Amino acid sequence: MCGIVGYVGTRPVVDILVNGLRRLEYRGYDSAGIAFCTPTGLRIVKEVGKVAQLEKKLIEVTTEAEQASAHLGIAHTRWATHGLPTEANAHPHVTRCGELALVHNGIIENYASIRKQLESHGTVFCSQTDTEALAHLIGAYYKGDLLAAVSQALKKVEGTYGIAVISARHPKEMVVARKGSPLVIGVGDQETIVASDVSAIVSHTRQVIYLQDGDIALITEEGPQIYTLDNASVHRPVAIVEWEIGAAEKGGYEHFMLKEIFEQPQALQNAIRGRLDISLGTAILSGLNMNPRELAAVQRLIIVACGTSLHAGMVGKYLFEGLASLPTDPEQAAEFRYCNPILGPNELVVALSQSGETADTLAAVRESIQKGALVAGLCNVVGSTIAREAGRGIYLHAGPEIGVASTKAFTAQVTVLLMLALKLGRCRRLSREEGLSLCQEIAAIPTLIEIVLKQAPCIEKIAAKYATVKNAFFIGRGILYPTALEGALKLKEISYIHAEGYQAAELKHGPITLLDEHFPVIALLNDIPGKEKTLGNVQECRARKAPIVGLVTEGDHEAEQVCDDVISLPRTTVYTAPVVTAVALQLFAYYVARARGCEIDQPRNLAKSVTVE
Ligand code: F6R
Repeated sequence: MCGIVGYVGTRPVVDILVNGLRRLEYRGYDSAGIAFCTPTGLRIVKEVGKVAQLEKKLIEVTTEAEQASAHLGIAHTRWATHGLPTEANAHPHVTRCGELALVHNGIIENYASIRKQLESHGTVFCSQTDTEALAHLIGAYYKGDLLAAVSQALKKVEGTYGIAVISARHPKEMVVARKGSPLVIGVGDQETIVASDVSAIVSHTRQVIYLQDGDIALITEEGPQIYTLDNASVHRPVAIVEWEIGAAEKGGYEHFMLKEIFEQPQALQNAIRGRLDISLGTAILSGLNMNPRELAAVQRLIIVACGTSLHAGMVGKYLFEGLASLPTDPEQAAEFRYCNPILGPNELVVALSQSGETADTLAAVRESIQKGALVAGLCNVVGSTIAREAGRGIYLHAGPEIGVASTKAFTAQVTVLLMLALKLGRCRRLSREEGLSLCQEIAAIPTLIEIVLKQAPCIEKIAAKYATVKNAFFIGRGILYPTALEGALKLKEISYIHAEGYQAAELKHGPITLLDEHFPVIALLNDIPGKEKTLGNVQECRARKAPIVGLVTEGDHEAEQVCDDVISLPRTTVYTAPVVTAVALQLFAYYVARARGCEIDQPRNLAKSVTVE
C-alpha cells in the first residue's frame, strides 16, 4: 500500500499524476514512483522520500518533450510492507524488458512461491517486494492482450490487491483490478482517472465508479469496461461525489489536523442534521433499515474497530449499556475475526471505521455476516467497502479526514453512537421525555465544542510547557477511560512521546512506580459521577511528584486545586463528556507535536488507511 493514481486521456499525464499523488500524501508513505508511456516506450522514475523529491527527479531525468508526449501513466506512493523503503522497492514495478509496469496496494501472500517458480525459468528480480512477483507473472502470461494477461495472473495470486497496469504496447489503455484494496474510477470528458481514493479524482470529475472485489476493468479515455476475472461483463453504477475540492485542502490552517480539529462544530452539525426527531424523542437513522420491533429484538451489540475507532467503540459500551440496557462488547477487529466469535441473529455487529477500508474491520464484517449476525457499518467515507458490504449503516457525514491522526471522525463516531443508543434506548426503556432531553444534549454538542476550541491559546501554552517530556499518562474513569486512551494515542502518534492511557484506579496496581517530577499525568477530572474518586487518584500521583494537567469543568475550584495546569471544559452531561474532552486532548497533542517540530499530518511509520492485516 498506499496510494495509486492512473490516467489515460488527452492531456499530458505527468502533472496530473504528480498532483494526484500529492492529494494522496496524507495517507502516509515512504517512497513514490511514476511510469508513463512515451512514443519510445515506458519511462519509469522512482524516488525514496516525498512526492516533492520525485518531482525534482522527474525534472532532472526526463525532458519536457517526453513529458508532453505522454497521455497514459500510473503512479504510486508506497508504505513499506515487504522490503525497506528503497528506490528498487518503490512502485511501479516493471517486467525485465521494461514493457509493462504495475502499481499495487495490498499484499500478494503467495508471492514467494510465484517468485521461486519464475526465477526457476530465468526471471531476474530487482526488488524484495511481493508486487514485483505479480508484475513478472503478468509479463509471463502476456501474449498481446493486456486484460487477458492480468486476469490470468490474478487467478493465480492469493491475498489482496488494488492494481493498475500499463504497457508500452498499449499506449491508449490501462488495466485495473481490485480485491480487498479500494480503487475508484473517475469518468471525465475524453479522459479517465483511476485512484485508490476519490480525493485524487475530484479536481477532474465528480462522476465516479467504485470497483468491487473481484472486478477487473479495461480503461480507455472513453471510460471503463468492467468484467469478472472469468471475463463476464458487469455493470457498476456511476456515483456523484458530493464534497467540494476545498474540503480536502488546508484552508489557511498550518496542518490538516488543526483544520479538522477546528471544523468539528460544523462536522458534527452535519452528522446530527435531520437525525433528531423532537416529536418522538428519538433518532432518525434510516440507513439502519430496522424498525423499532427489530431493534427491540437485538440482545447484544458487538462493536468491531481498530485504533481511534476502537476507542469510540469503547465509549459506545457506556452509551448502549447506560441508555439502552443493551450488553455491548467492543472488540479489536483483528482479534475478533480470529477468535471464532459466537454470534447469532439477535446480535448486532457494528463496524466502526472512518475510512471504511480497514482490512481487519472489513474481515470482521465478513465473518459476522457468515455467522448470521446483523451487521451495520458506521463509516465516514461514502461508498467505502465496509459501508457497502455491511448493507445497512449510518454515515458519519464528517467530511473528508486527511490528517493521518483521526480527530473529527472520533467525535462524529461518538455522536452517531449516541444517536444510535438513543434510538435503541427508546425501543427499550427510555421515556419520550428522557429521549427528548437526550436529543437536546446531542443538539448542543457543536456549541460545546466551540467553547473548547476557544481554549486553544491556553492549551497551546500548557502544551509548550510539556513538549520536552519523554513520557505521559492519561487517566480517566468510566466513560472517560476510552477518552484517556484516545488522548494518549493522539499524543504518541504525532509527537512520538511515550504515552499510555489508564483507568484512574489502575495506576496504583503497578504503573505508579514510574512517576516522578518528569512524568506528567493528564487527568480527566470532568465534573461527572466518578470525579471525586479520580481526584483521590490524582492526589496519589501528586504524592509521587508527578505534574498534573487537569481537564476540569469550568468553575470547579476543588478540581483546579489539585492540578499544576488546568484545561477548562464546559459543563456537560455524562454522555457528551467524551466528545468535548477529546477535542481538548486533540489540541493538546497537536500543540505538543508542533512545539517539537514533528511532521504532524504524516507521522513516521503511519498510513491513513490500513488496508493490510
Ligand atoms: C489514529 C488513527 C487510527 C485509525 C485506525 C482505524 O489517529 O487514525 O488508529 O483510527 O487505523 O481506521 P478506520 O477508522 O479508518 O478504520
